Amino acid sequence: MTILALETSCDETSAAVVRDGRILSSVVSSQVKLHAEYGGVVPELAAREHLKNLLPVARAALSEAGVQPGQLDAVAATQGPGLPTALLVGFKAAQAVAFALRKPFVGIHHHEAHLYSPWIVSEWSTEHRLGSTTESIATCRDGARRSGLVADFSAFQPNVSLIVSGGHTLLVVVESELNHRVLGSTVDDAAGECFDKTGKLMGLAYPAGPEIDRLAEQGNPKAFDFPRPLLHDASDDFSFSGLKTSVRYFLRDHPKLLDDAQRVRDLCASIQAAIVEVLVTKTIRAAKRNQVRCVTASGGVTCNRALRCELENACQREGFKLRLAEEELCTDNAAMIGILAERKLLHKVPATDLDSEIQPGWVLT
Ligand code: KG4
Ligand code: ZN
Repeated sequence: MTILALETSCDETSAAVVRDGRILSSVVSSQVKLHAEYGGVVPELAAREHLKNLLPVARAALSEAGVQPGQLDAVAATQGPGLPTALLVGFKAAQAVAFALRKPFVGIHHHEAHLYSPWIVSEWSTEHRLGSTTESIATCRDGARRSGLVADFSAFQPNVSLIVSGGHTLLVVVESELNHRVLGSTVDDAAGECFDKTGKLMGLAYPAGPEIDRLAEQGNPKAFDFPRPLLHDASDDFSFSGLKTSVRYFLRDHPKLLDDAQRVRDLCASIQAAIVEVLVTKTIRAAKRNQVRCVTASGGVTCNRALRCELENACQREGFKLRLAEEELCTDNAAMIGILAERKLLHKVPATDLDSEIQPGWVLT
């Protein structure tokens, strides 16, 4: 089955072609630089950029995959949640393509796509094949080269999944494929938002998460003691706005600290340690309580090296199998949308109506 997928829920315009679980092409045009000037995503600008970039991005995805529109078996797009005007661009374009080709259309929940993205893995081979984006960014590991990304649902096992992005922080138990239940979510700011907002207080550019990750590498995570909100709370919910506020007061009381590069690194490491400890502790606790043997993580914040490392340590200690989404699939991309759409069609989930609407506030349950 060959599927064209589009993703325009926030500030990445992305198109991908997937076939039989394999990602043939994955093209992402990021608007990060455009929004950095405003310190956050400006919805109207995001929508205009999607309108400008969607066709070239979709054309590039088809051409890199070597696929003609007539060879497509289905078209998929993110239906929600996301910025309404941004979602409309990819969703309505995908419906129009499906209508023109007389093929099924699949509207996908963005977080559900993140949820299953850790099952997409790199394939390694000794021979080097060229031809698609995923292949051309192949890197060496033990002399082998990556020949592509492929969904590996044969290895599926029940798991507890952490989805951490700029907009959401969710803990989900996945009992079987396409059968999941949300255990908890953030009651205020998301983990990525906490990185971005505390970084902004330090004068870092948006989005600050990757820069805090980089600065924290040479900082002391024990230098400053920030609160670990809801760490010992019985629920699986998260809260990060209190941590952000305590960083605000800390900077108010230590105005000179930002002039000292090493203290800034210590501050980044200490904030990161607080966020990571809460995420890891609550994920492991939920996995134990739900009696699964596997933990997965996805979403933009899963790029964070301390989070990846601490999840690995904790899972090793507790005997859990850990599956982290590949870094290029952590941030928003259409490949995960296409892979989930294909799984849905294979599981005989009905296609989405061509006159259905976007769902900007769609909540994963
Ligand atoms: O999933 P994503 O691309 O978009 C949303 O759906 O929100 O996530 C973006 C978020 C931003 O908050 C960004 O700061 C954060 O992921 N992020 C990171 C890192 N890379 C991206 N946060 C911490 N460390 C990183 N290395
Ligand atoms: Zn996302």
